Amino acid sequence: MGSTHARALARSGSEVELAAVVEPSDEVAARLGASLRRFRDTSELLAWDGVDGAIVAVPTRLHRDVVSQLLDSGLPVLCEKPCGLTSAETAAVAERARASGLRLHIGYWRRFVPGLRELQARIASGALGEVEAVLCVQWDEQPPPPCFRDPSSSGGIVVDMGVHEFDQLRWLTGQDVVEVTGVASSVCSAPPVEGDPEGVSLAVRLSGGATGLVSLLRRHPPGDLCRVEVIGTRSVAGLAFVAPPDGEETLLDALRAQAKDFAAAIRGAASAGATVTDAARVLEIAERCKLHAQPDQY
Ligand SMILES: NC(=O)c1ccc[n+]([C@@H]2O[C@H](COP(=O)([O-])OP(=O)(O)OC[C@H]3O[C@@H](n4cnc5c(N)ncnc54)[C@H](O)[C@@H]3O)[C@@H](O)[C@H]2O)c1
Repeated sequence: MGSTHARALARSGSEVELAAVVEPSDEVAARLGASLRRFRDTSELLAWDGVDGAIVAVPTRLHRDVVSQLLDSGLPVLCEKPCGLTSAETAAVAERARASGLRLHIGYWRRFVPGLRELQARIASGALGEVEAVLCVQWDEQPPPPCFRDPSSSGGIVVDMGVHEFDQLRWLTGQDVVEVTGVASSVCSAPPVEGDPEGVSLAVRLSGGATGLVSLLRRHPPGDLCRVEVIGTRSVAGLAFVAPPDGEETLLDALRAQAKDFAAAIRGAASAGATVTDAARVLEIAERCKLHAQPDQY
């Protein structure tokens, strides 16, 4: 994800400049290009006085420590979702942000997709009537490597993938997610990853009375697909905002817009991004999700 941010920022014009990268792996750093200033750890970066803020895309299990180190040293942070493995970790980070008085944004990039922003505004205006049901689909082309999928590193599928949908449901509808229950697929890739099923189907209840359906899949051979459908009492609306064969442009545009929003917020502007309070709530929802697995499977 860090290299995806780097690709997005390479075309961000003069508003946001990628000044340096922290990457412990020589192999990954080499792929980012020799022209980029590179540090091996966060302390090296902090000893250099050349940045106004940091985008954190380390493995989720490291979010809390890396974000805390940056905030404690005076750097505003845009942290990738979910900002910690648990809501308790997110709350600890939120406390550091409050104490430092610095901006801490969370990278729920869908909030910067123009079609979704339009949909959010239509729902808020009442153009669809009362929201009755929402369908959210997130199907990835390929599962990430087993070391990433390990729940002790990524949180497992409901945390790792589900948080995008929970944040989207809350932001789009203006309603909270009050209940989530679901079933896990027992179809296995090779090798299966304990605690991270290939797919889950979730049923959601929203605070305004609407229901939601969330489908998460780690493998969708045609390519990455993200889709949302909203059914209101007056009208309906839907959008496949990431679709095969190449959904990356949507992501890159949104990451660029998100980084510009972060930069403007550091200079004092209001932000359209997700807050750490949003992130903590979304993780709480993921933690409360009752997931029924196939017996003995996961
Ligand atoms: N918003 C999205 O759509 C999206 C998509 C993918 C991943 N992510 C998030 O991005 C984060 C990273 O995911 P990924 O798929 O890139 O993982 P990854 O394991 O592929 O990459 C993580 C990178 O961080 C480096 N790293 C490890 N420790 C570090 C440290 N202390 N300081 C700096 N770099 C360090 C690793 O060497 C590696 O290159 C995760 O939290 C994940 O949830 C978000």
